[in-house]
Amino acid sequence: MKVCIVGTGYVGLTTGACLAFLGHEVTCVDNNEAKVGMLRAGRSPIHEPYLEDLLAEAGHNLTYTTSYAEAVPGADVVFIAVNTPSLPDGSPDLKYLSSAAEDIGRNLGPGFTVVVNKSTVPIGSGNWVDAILREAHTGEGEFSVASNPEFLREGAAISDSLYTDRVVVGSDDARSLEVLYTLYRPVLDQSFTAPPFLPRPEGMGAVPLVATDLASAELIKYAANAFLALKISFINEIGQVAGKVGADIIQVAKGTGLDSRIGSRFLQPGVGWGGSCFGKDTAALITTAREYNLDMPIVQASRDTNRRQRELVVDKLLDELRILKGRTIGLLGLAFKPNTDDLRDAPALDIARRLIERGAKVRLHDPVAMARFREEQPDLAPYLCDTAEAVAESSDALVLVTEWPQYLEMEWAKLAVVMRKPIVLDGRHVLDESRLTRAGFRYLALAGWR
Ligand code: UGA
Repeated sequence: MKVCIVGTGYVGLTTGACLAFLGHEVTCVDNNEAKVGMLRAGRSPIHEPYLEDLLAEAGHNLTYTTSYAEAVPGADVVFIAVNTPSLPDGSPDLKYLSSAAEDIGRNLGPGFTVVVNKSTVPIGSGNWVDAILREAHTGEGEFSVASNPEFLREGAAISDSLYTDRVVVGSDDARSLEVLYTLYRPVLDQSFTAPPFLPRPEGMGAVPLVATDLASAELIKYAANAFLALKISFINEIGQVAGKVGADIIQVAKGTGLDSRIGSRFLQPGVGWGGSCFGKDTAALITTAREYNLDMPIVQASRDTNRRQRELVVDKLLDELRILKGRTIGLLGLAFKPNTDDLRDAPALDIARRLIERGAKVRLHDPVAMARFREEQPDLAPYLCDTAEAVAESSDALVLVTEWPQYLEMEWAKLAVVMRKPIVLDGRHVLDESRLTRAGFRYLALAGWR
């Protein structure tokens, strides 16, 4: 099938690469010329494991352009995968979505085209995009709008797309659902040959398809993200009780998650969630509910708990060091999670700023995200250090904020000897306490007794 993808961010580019790999003819359109130039040269503008490999593997099925007129006519499916950043009141800014829909509408070809919302958009956006398309569409041909939310995690985007738990498609027009069923068939029945660098997980069977109406598909995405955010905040809240009663939160999470009704994933305690999705989507869900005079106290509580986790880092350091003014605190890990250079709503940013407000000095390091950090956070850039060792030099404490494998494997003993006080606060509950103690550290964790 012929596919057009509008927007070459995490979602758009991953979707494009995967569909091209599955044999579809994909044109990616982006109005950022620099990005299109990079992609044409075989480089990915974002750091995502295996993405460049897949782009190369499927290169014969991929075209990049800045022109809607080149990309849209003749496409069976047009995916809208543009940014929907948050406005100050928590609602998503839909200006990119709206201008993409207008450009698509103006360029629709003579056949039948399915226009798919792939970006996470407020409930009701399907109807709204339909109205914009209708107004802009002056040519022949027919179209209908569908929602196909993505469930990929940054850092595991390719694997999450090819080996997904489910495909959700929503439309009020049965023809759209048929087209999307055909498009995703290789994923649904897992009939494609797995890429050499990403073998199919053992025991992976057919993938369930949830074919539903527009509003349900849109709400599924919000419900899924809110629930995952909730799980994390829930275990973080239990972690605080664990600390008080002397329980080991890791064992508590394990013993709780092994109940198959609960599930063990997304129960890793720590500094809480960041990234572009959970914060934005929980805020948008609350805003939508409010439009209907509904409160969402559970979702709101998960946001409050998440904010408190970041404050807790500062509180723990204050408890331990008594005075923060004039102390030097090293933060290891800036990206909101490992395997990405994405800094959106990253806990490290908040923590660094809170420490600076308290009069502490910070030293910062990330194995991958420092170049992006320099661009996006110029006021904090002077605190960057080239290595984890340089962060430790004369520091009063280190905080592991992002659990990059590089940090787990490094020689901590070398760091302990150059610190003013060899204290480590494990913000992710991933370090081995006895190993760290042997390396000379006083080990602190955010929750529980370790
Ligand atoms: C999330 C969802 O997991 C995806 O299913 C969804 O498609 C995506 O949002 C989206 O809406 O686009 P993502 O934000 O990329 O994906 O990252 P996650 O792996 O979900 O991690 C989110 C945050 O939660 C990270 O800061 C991570 O460190 C934290 N986390 C995750 C925990 O603190 N504990 C856990 O147990 C799991």
